[in-house]
Amino acid sequence: MSVTAKTPPQTFHVKSFGCQMNVYDGERMAELMAAEGLVSTADADAADLVVLNTCHIREKATEKVYSDIGRLRKRARERGSDAPMIAVAGCVAQAEGEEIVRRAKVDVVVGPQSYHNLPGLVARAASGEAALDTDMPLASKFAHLPARRRVGASAFLTVQEGCDKFCTYCVVPYTRGAEVSRPYAAILDEARALVDAGAREITLLGQNVNAWSDDGRGLHDLILALDRLPGLARIRYTTSHPNDMAQGLIEAHRDVESLMPFLHLPVQAGSDRVLRAMNRAHTVDGYLHLLDRVRAVRPDIALSGDFIVGFPGETEAEFAETLRLVDRVGYAQAFSFKYSPRPGTPAADLAAAVPAEVMDERLQRLQAALNRDQAAFNAASVGRRCAVLIERRGKLPGQWLGKSPWLQSVHLVGDHKIGDLVEVTLAAAGPNSLTGVATLRDAA
Ligand code: 5AD
Ligand code: SF4
Repeated sequence: MSVTAKTPPQTFHVKSFGCQMNVYDGERMAELMAAEGLVSTADADAADLVVLNTCHIREKATEKVYSDIGRLRKRARERGSDAPMIAVAGCVAQAEGEEIVRRAKVDVVVGPQSYHNLPGLVARAASGEAALDTDMPLASKFAHLPARRRVGASAFLTVQEGCDKFCTYCVVPYTRGAEVSRPYAAILDEARALVDAGAREITLLGQNVNAWSDDGRGLHDLILALDRLPGLARIRYTTSHPNDMAQGLIEAHRDVESLMPFLHLPVQAGSDRVLRAMNRAHTVDGYLHLLDRVRAVRPDIALSGDFIVGFPGETEAEFAETLRLVDRVGYAQAFSFKYSPRPGTPAADLAAAVPAEVMDERLQRLQAALNRDQAAFNAASVGRRCAVLIERRGKLPGQWLGKSPWLQSVHLVGDHKIGDLVEVTLAAAGPNSLTGVATLRDAA
């Protein structure tokens, strides 16, 4: 790979696609570049260096990176300025490596396990050298990142990465690597730094976050330790696999007040045959039984899930089983996707693709059911009293936007500030958000 020398960048912009872990990685890359003396710009077109932190989970997500690169260069041409230095980070970088350089002539390619090397790669690219790093080193990148300094009221904290489950449709085991848990002490240190930097809520992140373990400790032990952290009011975790839902974690939903009553537990499909073909290693009944156990200890828990429609060979009757599962669970919210064959995954080799128009129609029916249940969950929340964590200003004067314990967006008006926990009564519900009326202010 050969590029011509460029002026070392002075300003940068990081744009993250995809999941919450990418948002977290994007923040850490921004902190890293700022520690190197580069200045962050909110406008990608004004930056000398643009880091595209990419997602490979579905084809559409992957294609976004190429259209973004084209757009950045076109705008620079229109302005008559030099094209920015472009660094492709994240899962597309990991999966495609050199191919991105061939296809889009970008300056830097860096994978999700080696982005602590970004400053060195940028310097190499500036001097005209090849700058590609998709290693998955044994030593963790986290030790090389600067401490957290300024975060919002709600912060992400990666505790576990990678996946050993090998669902047949999924690229994550290849792009993020094998399951690795960060050490207990390092996580607590980062959590303290996040609280000092302004966080009142921490969401623990992992591709299989409930598989987190360190020296005999499980995720619930970590949650118990975080519960004792002064200043931290709320704990959440995502994404979990049904087979790693330990009894201790279920009981934490009963015993730990700061653990929010929300569980994102993807199921993907409602047919045992499809689940087997997906290598999910659980059945529909097993999943429902698990939800019963969680609801038994925490009756108000809000449930969330992920679904894929149109997995190869999915029949109409099998899809109807997904709708039936949705009816039985009553999700508070959920994400649903059309199956997208991913290179290198076992399912990509399966014949019996479901036609595009059938997938479209199934997705519409599924989303109608999920939207119906989300609206019903929100409507049923009206009249509830709860705390809302204020995260940002709303669009209207005096309006604030925060989250209920059940992860609903709540608008409220009043003399508040970011990070306040405001006691409200939920007064009105729309499909995507609620309105709260403050009843009491906390002293925080
Ligand atoms: N096609 C469609 N959706 C996918 N997901 C993962 N891989 C694919 C794929 N190949 C969905 C799953 C997962 C979520 C993060 O993305 O529902 O839980
Ligand atoms: Fe996308 Fe998965 Fe990578 Fe997150 S881990 S960016 S969802 S491919």
